[in-house]
Amino acid sequence: MDELVSLCKRRGLIYQSSDIYGGLQGVYDFGPLGVELKNNIKKAWWDSMIYQNDDIEGLDSAILTNPLVLKYSGHEDTFSDPMVDCKSCGLRFRADQVPDACKEEDLTEPRQFNLMFKTNVGPLEDGESFAYLRPETAQQIFTNFKNVVDSTSKSLPFGIAQIGKAFRNEITPRNFIFRVREFEQMELEYFVKPGTDEDIHNSWVQKRLKWWVDQGVPMESITLYEVPDKELAHYSKRTIDLMYKFPHGVEELEGIANRTDFDLGSHSKKQEDLNIKSDVSENKDSNSKLAVQEENGEWFVPYVIEPSAGVERAFLAIINEAYNVEDLGDAKSRIVLKLKPHLAPIKAAVIPLKKNNEEIVSFAKLIKEHMQKLGLGRIILENTGNIGKSYRKHDEIGTPLCITVDFESLDDKSVTVRDRDSMKQTRVKFEKLNDFLLNIIKS
Ligand code: GAP
Repeated sequence: MDELVSLCKRRGLIYQSSDIYGGLQGVYDFGPLGVELKNNIKKAWWDSMIYQNDDIEGLDSAILTNPLVLKYSGHEDTFSDPMVDCKSCGLRFRADQVPDACKEEDLTEPRQFNLMFKTNVGPLEDGESFAYLRPETAQQIFTNFKNVVDSTSKSLPFGIAQIGKAFRNEITPRNFIFRVREFEQMELEYFVKPGTDEDIHNSWVQKRLKWWVDQGVPMESITLYEVPDKELAHYSKRTIDLMYKFPHGVEELEGIANRTDFDLGSHSKKQEDLNIKSDVSENKDSNSKLAVQEENGEWFVPYVIEPSAGVERAFLAIINEAYNVEDLGDAKSRIVLKLKPHLAPIKAAVIPLKKNNEEIVSFAKLIKEHMQKLGLGRIILENTGNIGKSYRKHDEIGTPLCITVDFESLDDKSVTVRDRDSMKQTRVKFEKLNDFLLNIIKS
């Protein structure tokens, strides 16, 4: 973990937030390369959900949330962790994460601590006009269920997917970006007919495993955890967690839950007409029936299958898998981030052999502009004049190709392309460069 943290800071992937004022615990900023990698992860997820499935629609809902949403979702009552204080060191911990140094007899009895952040809405600070920062992106998918059905004419089974910020006032944020207070989630709520839910749940587990493999997280690094009944969230009939061997230990990467008809049922009016199967509280505030009508006129509430992954945990797992220290012989080594090319923050670096040679530099610029137009991601002109140093840097940040423009290039319109993983160098004609890059990114 220390090596990853150091690489992230050194190369501009991740910084401690508000660092110049001592930081803010459990909050991080993504730097110039971090934001590229993060966007590429989100794009890979969005592509696999929305562009590859015509039965899934996207959504981008608000973060500020009406408290009634989180009352009926059950978060006000249940979204809490047990917290203890240590009378000896004066620190506060999640009850299951007390360090060994704190003695049992110094700990207070556990108290429940609600993890939701509140903020004032409007100019009055009277304690009444507040909103929550959403603790999961899922709830606004449920509250928009009817809007999406009405505007897209979707019928079951279909899904609504969203990527966005979520906030949790974690008692003990830790392990770099693994457990933080502000993070992003990639969540799909897939609505199905009751009775078909169990098979569809299993099929989403398989689809999600394949997605992780496509991002460079191999099946051998993931185990499936069948969450036992006593650990299930209040809405869940069954949850399978994908557990990954993070540098600090095996922990949850993604949860895939069968949320039954709890959420839509709980947010609905006239619940008594809807044949709701889960145990929901009476809703006197909703103005909508989040249900579907059968041809015979009967109403029912769809069940929901929810694959829910955190972007930060995806980032950490992906760089952990990609990070390699390779022995080059002669007591030399290199750090290389073997990211899948579609995730690489920079797709290609164009390096003029001589930084002050106008002709070489302007040909390099032309190549950069030509390749940039492919729209595959960032192509950078690396005009340092130091090829060795540029190779080292681009190995460390996972750039799949380095393209060197030399004197010969001016005559034969060819360049030397160096492959990040094999370090093999190939001479490629200018007009073939785009296809060369396309092949690598799309393979
Ligand atoms: N909508 C369901 C839900 O939110 P969850 O298991 O609490 O379920 C889903 O969260 C995913 O969000 C987790 O698998 C994890 O990847 C990510 N996540 C949750 N809390 C997090 C935190 N404090 N920091 C970073 N990621 C977190």
